[in-house]
Amino acid sequence: MPSITTRAKLNLTLRVVGRRHDGYHMLQSLVSFAEVGDRLDAKPAPALTLSISGPESAPLEQTEENLVWRAARALQQRYGVAHGAQLYLEKRLPVASGIGGGSGDAAAALRLLATLWDLPIDDGGLVKIAQQLGADVPSCLFSQAGWMEGIGEQFTPCVSFPSCAVVLINPRIALPTPDVFRHFATHALPLSDEEVLPERFKDFTALMEWVKARPNDLLASASALCPVLESRLEALHGLASGLPVGMSGSGATCFVLCPDLRKADTIATALRKVFPDDWMVSAPMV
Ligand code: C5P
Repeated sequence: MPSITTRAKLNLTLRVVGRRHDGYHMLQSLVSFAEVGDRLDAKPAPALTLSISGPESAPLEQTEENLVWRAARALQQRYGVAHGAQLYLEKRLPVASGIGGGSGDAAAALRLLATLWDLPIDDGGLVKIAQQLGADVPSCLFSQAGWMEGIGEQFTPCVSFPSCAVVLINPRIALPTPDVFRHFATHALPLSDEEVLPERFKDFTALMEWVKARPNDLLASASALCPVLESRLEALHGLASGLPVGMSGSGATCFVLCPDLRKADTIATALRKVFPDDWMVSAPMV
């Protein structure tokens, strides 16, 4: 059965650089992807069905609101596809956690179904549909390090990205993206200056310095809505010995960026003793 394992999207930096008239925020973000994700299977069927299970599936309802479902419908409508597919989603990434779980699932659905239905669509066509599904979906189609701009829907892959790894921790508290942006807007929090994004990072040290100089602009809002975030960040700083610590997207997943998987594993082992009930992984980055 054709299947895709998604990758968790990580905003290593996230600067809010403007507001649009429709309320959306303009962003500049360095994103990369961790080798941990959900699994989506698809097989041919006369009608479209979606079933969801897995350790992080509880908050999800198997409804037409699901981004996988919406991605499938969008493709069917665009190409007049009369048949369906039996979709099975194994949810391993926490929901509403700032690591693009739902967006990654939608991107996987687009890629899988375009192949299953043998559609005449290239990456440009997939990006157009992805943009309608959510700001993060286009970058998840590529799942490689790059720059996110616009409201998040413009994605340019990095020319080169140093080998590295990451520790992710989430306190298992869903933090919906609209709530965090609404808090940011209603408190009129300051915008960052737009900058020219570097084409490449020559090594891990260069990447580390760049990330450390640019804390996530949504952090104050996310912490206000999810105060336990502070304890995770404090613990990460304590274990990171100067490595970059931050929050991804609109939270509440926090990370430590590490030079290799061995270091990430060591930090994750220590962290698990402090927060045994949190969702936590160490993984290579791509
Ligand atoms: O695009 P997505 O569905 O992930 O966005 C969820 C919500 O987050 C939007 O409806 C909007 O309120 C907010 N948002 C924003 N600026 C962005 C992305 C999202 O204000 N760049």
